Amino acid sequence: MITHNNYWLRAVEEDDLTWMKELRNDESTWSQLGNFVFLNEARQKNWFENMNCNNNIEYLVYGYKAINIGIVRLTEIDHINRSMCVGGDILPQHRGKKHAQPMYEIIQKLGFDVWGMNRLWLLVLANNEVGLHVYKKVGFKEEGIQRQAIYKDGKFVDYIMMSILNSEYQK
Ligand SMILES: CC(C)(COP(=O)(O)OP(=O)(O)OC[C@H]1O[C@@H](n2cnc3c(N)ncnc32)[C@H](O)[C@@H]1OP(=O)(O)O)[C@@H](O)C(=O)NCCC(=O)NCCS
Repeated sequence: MITHNNYWLRAVEEDDLTWMKELRNDESTWSQLGNFVFLNEARQKNWFENMNCNNNIEYLVYGYKAINIGIVRLTEIDHINRSMCVGGDILPQHRGKKHAQPMYEIIQKLGFDVWGMNRLWLLVLANNEVGLHVYKKVGFKEEGIQRQAIYKDGKFVDYIMMSILNSEYQK
């Protein structure tokens, strides 16, 4: 477990899979993500077992005090180039309560201070206004746009790549 004030990240346990599946299957979540799969128990279990054998992916539970707030997704973990893709989804009932900024602060603490990463990056849909606001606020800079990369709700939407470097975080 890693902590930051009263916030924390911990490993996913099998008991977490049900609420994680519900979070991912919720339309308010998947509509903001670049990919979409219907998750069922079997797929979720398969994914969990694969994650536990793969050192390029780490999903963590994000919480505040005794409450699970959401999940953090660390993917494309590259120990040679010291970069990784980061992201997180907050449970609908905990959104709008300013838990997103500390989620990215603790991701940065883990990525830069603990794992020695040089670059954390993410991809966000151009119409995800809340996400864009939060990422800029915690120091991510826009790097470029994958034009019309994602098909959503009858339209092709731009996918924006953002990153923060260790040197920027240390300032
Ligand atoms: C994106 C997400 C993690 C943000 O968490 P949250 O709990 O909703 O956000 P918070 O309450 O912590 O902060 C929201 C911020 O956005 C601002 N905001 C709210 N609506 C906004 C809008 N329409 N446009 C711009 N900013 C907005 C708020 O004022 C707040 O900023 P502030 O702290 O400077 O006042 C969460 O909404 C979520 O899980 N969404 C669904 C899945 C998702 O989008 N995942 C990320 C994919 S890249």
